Amino acid sequence: MSEPSSPPLLELERLSCHFPIRGLLGRRAGTLRAVDDVSLSLREGEALGIVGESGSGKSTLGKTLGGIHDPTDGVIRLAGEPIATQRSRRPLSVRARLQYVYQDSGASLDQRWTLRRSLHEPLVIHTDWSREHREAKVREIAGAVGLAEEHLDLYPHELSGGQQRRAGLARILVLGPQIVVFDEPTSGLDFSVQATVLALIRGIRRMFNLTYLMISHDLNVVGSMCDRLAVMYLGRIVEIGPTREVLGRPRHPYTRSLVDSLPRIGGPRVTDRLGMPGEPVFPADMHQGCGYRTRCPIGTLACTRIDPRLVIKEAHGVACLEWRP
Ligand SMILES: Nc1ncnc2c1ncn2[C@@H]1O[C@H](COP(=O)(O)OP(=O)(O)OP(=O)(O)O)[C@@H](O)[C@H]1O
Ligand SMILES: [Mg+2]
Repeated sequence: MSEPSSPPLLELERLSCHFPIRGLLGRRAGTLRAVDDVSLSLREGEALGIVGESGSGKSTLGKTLGGIHDPTDGVIRLAGEPIATQRSRRPLSVRARLQYVYQDSGASLDQRWTLRRSLHEPLVIHTDWSREHREAKVREIAGAVGLAEEHLDLYPHELSGGQQRRAGLARILVLGPQIVVFDEPTSGLDFSVQATVLALIRGIRRMFNLTYLMISHDLNVVGSMCDRLAVMYLGRIVEIGPTREVLGRPRHPYTRSLVDSLPRIGGPRVTDRLGMPGEPVFPADMHQGCGYRTRCPIGTLACTRIDPRLVIKEAHGVACLEWRP
């Protein structure tokens, strides 16, 4: 008799997060579909990269997972159990298991507190541990992110940029999360610090058997850090699949243009890694046809009418009417 397979660790089913657009006198003038009808799942230990241009909804997706925004629609399941959709009803234990790490994670530290106090605080909120128990955990995690014991008595402004990122990560890790959303973990860091932060994330992934989503503008970063990639455009996932497949054999014209714009050794210098001609349509109430149609080099008349669904073949999904298996 075969064992029933365990549910994915994280499952999003038709998840949306919309924001009201305010017009004159604060009246609602429309809806901004920041995240629209996103479904995906993650197995334990897996790393999924989320890429897409500025404004495509990456951070909103991450924040909805982390409970910072309430979903407008859809379901989030953790190990098969739906998480209450309203943030206020998300139990503390669930909040600890699924954490969103802000872009500048060091900035999330309280400037008035020593690092030790900042690291004890989440444990004070989420556990009933004794001070000794908390202190042991804080030291263990500080060590895991490469901070020395002396750093624990410093204030955030006394830490270097790289140390602040380590401290921000430590603040998340003390709670023992199962899933972490890293939002642009390397942005604003110089090249050598970027490499250190990525090595650190690889290390803690192994050490704590983390499952993570990593949001980045930089295809090279997510390419080297993730098993699978999801490409977002105007709040939707337009392509998802194994990293090697998505980068090596992109199926969506948008992914193709992202991959083509990657700087190549000896090639022309590209400053904006996701630069491409044309502007995306504004993601407000836009619901007829494909969102990419205004920039698509292969679009047809049908693309102005039909909103393409994500079609998955051999674990590689694409939302494009023109893609044929
Ligand atoms: N709290 C909010 N209220 C209203 N609109 C919002 C809010 N947060 C984000 N948006 C809008 O949702 C859309 C998606 O924003 P989001 O920050 O998710 O994009 P992003 O892909 O993370 O972009 P970037 O790469 O620049 O960080 C944008 O049009 C943004 O203006
Ligand atoms: Mg963002």
